[in-house]
Amino acid sequence: MSETNNKNEGKMEAIVSLCKRRGFVYPSSEIYGGFAGVYDFGPLGVELETNLKNHWWKVMVQKRLDIVGLDSSIFMNPKIWEASGHTKGFSDPMTECKECNTRIRVDKVLEEISVTADEKMSEEEINKLFDENKNKIKCQKCGKQNFSKVKKFNLLVQSNLGDFTDNGDAPSYLRGETCQGIYVNFDNVVDSTHMKLPFGIAQIGKAFRNEISPRQFLFRGREFEQMEMQYFTHPDNEMEEYEKLKDYRWKAILSLGIKPENLKWKRHENLVFYAKDAWDIEYNFPWGFDELEGVHARGNYDLTQHSKGSGKELNYYDQEKNERFIPHIIESSTGVGRLFFAVINDAFTEEEVEGETRIVLKFNKKIAPVKIAILPLSKKEELVKPALDIFNTLNESFVCQYDETQSIGKRYRRQDEIGTPYCVTVDFDTLTDNAVTVRDRDTMKQERIKIVDLDNYLLEKLG
Ligand code: GAP
Repeated sequence: MSETNNKNEGKMEAIVSLCKRRGFVYPSSEIYGGFAGVYDFGPLGVELETNLKNHWWKVMVQKRLDIVGLDSSIFMNPKIWEASGHTKGFSDPMTECKECNTRIRVDKVLEEISVTADEKMSEEEINKLFDENKNKIKCQKCGKQNFSKVKKFNLLVQSNLGDFTDNGDAPSYLRGETCQGIYVNFDNVVDSTHMKLPFGIAQIGKAFRNEISPRQFLFRGREFEQMEMQYFTHPDNEMEEYEKLKDYRWKAILSLGIKPENLKWKRHENLVFYAKDAWDIEYNFPWGFDELEGVHARGNYDLTQHSKGSGKELNYYDQEKNERFIPHIIESSTGVGRLFFAVINDAFTEEEVEGETRIVLKFNKKIAPVKIAILPLSKKEELVKPALDIFNTLNESFVCQYDETQSIGKRYRRQDEIGTPYCVTVDFDTLTDNAVTVRDRDTMKQERIKIVDLDNYLLEKLG
């Protein structure tokens, strides 16, 4: 393994370990041996995730006159997944190692040896491509080279909701992407809000996929959350709006404080037949650049399909121009887990301080899960009381933590590791000078601030 790979693998391990140790992310069902592809967000993970979702909602809904929100159900009429093409076409090519039964995603292992498998390939074509290259591929688990024929494996997660026949005749599905709930509510939103084209509908919610090999921590899970916005346009304006959306999403991601050098655009080489254009914003994950968000121009495919599937014409009437047409859609789609992973990776910093390694999550202050920690120097009642008073005042405006355990040095390190921008220390001098020490996470500089000025001081710093 190269030095860079070693370093990156080390960073991945350090992040996963910090996430568990500090209560950001736990493996699901851990005491039962875990459950592949699913994770639980711990006390700090929930805070960070909420901040990311709130930021997205603010940027994509609340700041926009032309976008409204939606929260559609996870279960929907199964016909939706037929009309959208998911029951037939939402699949990944899979082979199985005949030696150890490990299931392998064929397009990904081909990609690792720089061979591209087009999504549109038939089972026969992908088998041919795999056969031509399988002498260069080894099972990721046992290292052997004895593979089964490649099959297309459907990613929709089936359930028996509403099926009372006991023979699984009528599967319903957990949604594979949130946007289908948006398309099927197009008419409802137009009728109830009188939105005029161009306009968008945004939603945040869980999606489920039977991923063949869930991997790379939160990057590819079987249960995950999406933040999707579908923007409906006149066909003539689709590409102009598309360029605007690309620019808007790029700036929105940068505004989370992610380093620009860790982001780049990548154009899809193989477009699905209905797409006009498709670009991904890639982030430099520990293993290299990979998809963080998709911004795609989808033409009129989605509304056309649901018109055919439901028998209800999903179109738009422009009164001024006396014109009826099927709107074209451009979308932006991000996984909350991927963004969560990206911001932690981006913030993760190791520094040498007085001969020791200090681990700091240098989050942008607006997304830091905890903004201020209030730390009495000792557990003595005379310090605990004013410290709790400060905690109760500051937590009206900020997410705060109160911590009186262990030495002050250890508490500072703990707050550094969870990315808390400011620590407020109450010490014995506080009892006479009515002031506290405020420590800055990034510079570690300390300032003495009067308690009466503290709220305003921190408001200014935290914005
Ligand atoms: N509506 C379009 C759509 O769902 P996608 O490229 O399949 O497109 C969009 O997914 C985004 O959802 C991805 O860019 C990624 O951020 C996230 N995503 C997709 N599959 C995921 C998975 N298995 N685990 C975590 N996030 C995932």
